[in-house]
Amino acid sequence: MRIEFCSTCGAPLEARWSKIVIECRYCGAQSTPGEEGAPVPSSIPDDGRLRIAVSGRTYLILGQLAHGDSSDVYFARWVRRLGELVVVKCLRCPSDSDLMRREHAFLERLRHSPATGTERFAARIPEPIALSPVRVRGQERMIAVRRWRSGFLHSLEEVRRQHPRGVEPGVAIWTFKRLLEVLDWSHRSGVVHGAVLPPHVLIHPRDHGAMLVGWSTAGAWSRDARRGLIAISREWESWYPSRNGIGPEHDIAMAARCVLWMSGATSFNEPGRLPPGLAELLFRASSGGYDEAGKTIEQVSKRSLEDLGQPAYCPLAMPGWSI
Ligand SMILES: Nc1ncnc2c1ncn2[C@@H]1O[C@H](COP(=O)(O)OP(=O)(O)OP(=O)(O)O)[C@@H](O)[C@H]1O
Ligand SMILES: [Mg+2]
Repeated sequence: MRIEFCSTCGAPLEARWSKIVIECRYCGAQSTPGEEGAPVPSSIPDDGRLRIAVSGRTYLILGQLAHGDSSDVYFARWVRRLGELVVVKCLRCPSDSDLMRREHAFLERLRHSPATGTERFAARIPEPIALSPVRVRGQERMIAVRRWRSGFLHSLEEVRRQHPRGVEPGVAIWTFKRLLEVLDWSHRSGVVHGAVLPPHVLIHPRDHGAMLVGWSTAGAWSRDARRGLIAISREWESWYPSRNGIGPEHDIAMAARCVLWMSGATSFNEPGRLPPGLAELLFRASSGGYDEAGKTIEQVSKRSLEDLGQPAYCPLAMPGWSI
């Protein structure tokens, strides 16, 4: 028995090694990795779609996920049989290679952090598989490959586009808590993210999940050694509370701004759909009033119990999800 994954809906496909055409039980799509009767090929047959070789593995590009500040981001699959799904981040300009190397280094550092919670929180940041310069159309471009995390499909930009008047307060609060948890671990590991912006927060609408990407301007941090940001996103310039001597309060403020924005606020001192008590807390966080993410979570939990009652399952409605 082998397990493959449906290229249409991602559900697991079970089939005997001898069987060539496999039908997805969930969506009915047929997977044909070879001709009927032919031996099962060891890799996806070349059908003309774009392939890219990075660090000895060839990836089939399945589609574009996003256009970032400095890179194009694709959804891809390692062509080998049972090859994993990945995210391929392809730098547009070679002069930004240092940023991509920096991101890779900080992701590795966090994945190996001795801080409590690494096993749990490493799953909330991209997992690096490879980083290498690749020749694309005659030009050398730095390419990073990361493991695909199923379900983390929507950035907060898409959430806001889908809910222009703001999400329910319960959704805003679980998003804030998930962000604070990953920031708390990152700060305890001596790393500040620096750019907690809507395009860098990926939401799992059903599982109350949030993942933090875009670590290229992350920096080392300790109580007595604070550094400035090495770059900022022009498009989101007004979202950075500070550029020098940044520490945990900077990340917490940016996370709070994201949460106000997803709640429908058009400025960082408007509540959107948040009830007054929680909105006050968010305003304070957004102006740098909290410098410990762990303690901020406690405050958020206390306040949301008062304003919203006991925590409840509160999925986010997004296209493509039946919840
Ligand atoms: N691991 C991932 N899984 C799914 N989507 C991702 C992932 N990483 C990035 N993306 C998508 O690609 C977009 C751009 O990614 P990212 O912000 O990392 O690139 P960038 O803006 O070019 O570089 P950086 O922000 O690191 O300077 C994100 O906003 C997100 O939508
Ligand atoms: Mg980015």
